[in-house]
Amino acid sequence: MADHFETPGAGKTIDVPLTLTPGIAETLTVQLTRQLRTAILEGQLAHGTLLPSTRTLAQVLGVARGTVMVAYDELLTEGFLTSRVGSGTRVSSGISSVPSLPRAPGTFSTARWLRKASIEPEVSPASVPGQIDFRVGQPTVAPLSNDAWRRAWRRAAEENLPGAYADAAGDPELRAELAAYLRRSRGLLCQADDLIITNGTVQGLHLIAQAVLQRGDAVAFEEPGYRLARQVLREHGGQIVPISVDEDGLEVATLPVGDSAPLLVYTTPSHQFPLGSRLSLPRRHALLAWAAQHESLILEDDYDGEFRYDTAPLPALASMSPGQVVYLGTFSKVLSPALRIGYLVAPPDLRERLIARKTVADYHTSWPVQRALAFFLQDGDLDRHLRRMRRWYARQRSLLVLELAAAGPLAQVGGLDAGFHLHLTLSSPVQAEAVVKEAAQRGVQLTTLRSSYLNGPGPEGLLLGYGGLTASQIVTGARNLVMVLQQLSV
Ligand SMILES: Cc1ncc(COP(=O)(O)O)c(C=O)c1O
Repeated sequence: MADHFETPGAGKTIDVPLTLTPGIAETLTVQLTRQLRTAILEGQLAHGTLLPSTRTLAQVLGVARGTVMVAYDELLTEGFLTSRVGSGTRVSSGISSVPSLPRAPGTFSTARWLRKASIEPEVSPASVPGQIDFRVGQPTVAPLSNDAWRRAWRRAAEENLPGAYADAAGDPELRAELAAYLRRSRGLLCQADDLIITNGTVQGLHLIAQAVLQRGDAVAFEEPGYRLARQVLREHGGQIVPISVDEDGLEVATLPVGDSAPLLVYTTPSHQFPLGSRLSLPRRHALLAWAAQHESLILEDDYDGEFRYDTAPLPALASMSPGQVVYLGTFSKVLSPALRIGYLVAPPDLRERLIARKTVADYHTSWPVQRALAFFLQDGDLDRHLRRMRRWYARQRSLLVLELAAAGPLAQVGGLDAGFHLHLTLSSPVQAEAVVKEAAQRGVQLTTLRSSYLNGPGPEGLLLGYGGLTASQIVTGARNLVMVLQQLSV
């Protein structure tokens, strides 16, 4: 006899597991009394919570009503419950609850499992409240408070949730919408069945690495590059081979050949992260030829390619040779990283394995989120949103560049073609770390370019994301930065 008992109480819903076992030494009444008392003490039943009537609880648990009445009486006597005619039985106030998970005593801090736990991965610093936050990768979400966005979510909320796990590859309607979007915006000749919905690019990389990588396999990775992606591939046993980038993107000619050719190549061809260059067309052809020769798989991370300014798009690698490339897209830049949703298009032979990995990881991406996005795409609202965002980011970018011009020869701006971050190369003798420290004193949060390098030291430089900032934050932040640069250069 076990049940999760749910009842509205004091404006909240409670969910307390009650398990009564007949035929054991402890009577059903004693079991019920003990479990309710524990739930109160552990705070699962909060002060003032209205308990169900004895009749209802008895029915739910499949026991005699008298069993519940005696348990309630006992808890009333002990002071855990109060009862008033007309307002039912409630959990008394003034009971001091104990946390349900006491902190592990100090002896566990040397336990074998903790000693074996891997070194914590490097993660980006958190936002500092009150600072003007130039960390990269944060889009503006203000335009998403519009009617179209809310309408998509209302429509998703009006649907019944599936009662079972759903399609691991993702909502077929969302996949169909995305396939159409990729065909018209990226020239990818894909269909709904070529796509897998993920919880973002980072999860896509986990799935690929799980499916493909063996410990020690070499993975070519842009240097500098996206730290988190690098970390993921390392965690699955990949041996990172840093490949430098220049103004034409990944230096394909330096990829190892022969027996030491990497199995995977991770690249951001539309907008190299973080330097902002684009992989030139000749290099795209060269990369595909290299991959074909060495039977290597290319991971094309197209994280913010939607936002281009003064340049025409180059064809996605996946559109040039679908059988050699996994194309990874995300809603993290287009909409918000907090949605945790992205997608990938994999070569047909890999797709089923990736779907199996996705099932093992988490069955599938949250269904209501997928449905809301499907409606957003179906109604043409994503295209409208993107058009608006391109204009918005172009304005932000011009404003930031204008303000940074005041730094004169102390800093050169680069990586402006796409996305919503740029980089600043600092002139000697200004040191990036010192700038970050001093700027923080003036309420401006920055990141060094060096943090994107695996093998240092990299140039003295800074990364500035401007997507999520208002115009006045951009102006104030940039002016403070210029002051810091001037101060540190004397
Ligand atoms: C290069 C790159 N790829 C992908 C992402 C997005 O990853 P996800 O889709 O998991 O949010 C980011 C986010 O900052 C990024 O910088």
